Amino acid sequence: MLEIIINAIWLMMPAYISNPMAVVFGGGTPIDLGKKWGDGRRILGDGKTIRGLLAGTTCGIIAGLIQMQISPVGSLGIFTYTAIVTISFGALLGDIVKSFFKRRLGFTRGAKLLLIDQLDFVAGAWILTYAFDPQWFIMNFTPQIIITVLILTPIFHRLTNIFGYYIKLKKEPW
Ligand code: CTP
Ligand code: MG
Repeated sequence: MLEIIINAIWLMMPAYISNPMAVVFGGGTPIDLGKKWGDGRRILGDGKTIRGLLAGTTCGIIAGLIQMQISPVGSLGIFTYTAIVTISFGALLGDIVKSFFKRRLGFTRGAKLLLIDQLDFVAGAWILTYAFDPQWFIMNFTPQIIITVLILTPIFHRLTNIFGYYIKLKKEPW
């Protein structure tokens, strides 16, 4: 049980790093360059920036490379270079895709979407990793690990965001 939890956190670590680091280093030019979609609303909004995307992805990749160097204990998953990149970048891509649909549904930047805000980056990391390295994904993200990640992530996300709110990194505690 504990082994599964530790492995789940280990495997998701590049995403657990890239996502908050986009918030830490984010700001500046928005990815949509301020442009609007056909519905008159912003394509993504000011909350998704180029710097956040690049810095977040870089931090996630660095975390994964460090994890690769630490000799794996017990049954911890061993990353491939592809997986490190797709987990880090996929997490932020998931967040961006979510913002796209949030805007289409008329939610303004920062509006709260229960569970979607918490799991968007997990979905992004998994889909991109499955697309580029399905063998590695299936071997490491077993049904048990997947369920564990789905339960743990909203809890971690909530705690991180409350913390981010109090140190004034985030405008909303979600
Ligand atoms: N951020 C960024 N670039 C990203 C992701 C996040 O710069 N690719 C920064 C932005 O400053 C953003 C903050 O992190 O405001 C919080 O991220 P998030 O909650 O994902 O964005 P929201 O502002 O809530 O926007 P949205 O409603 O589109 O989710
Ligand atoms: Mg938000």
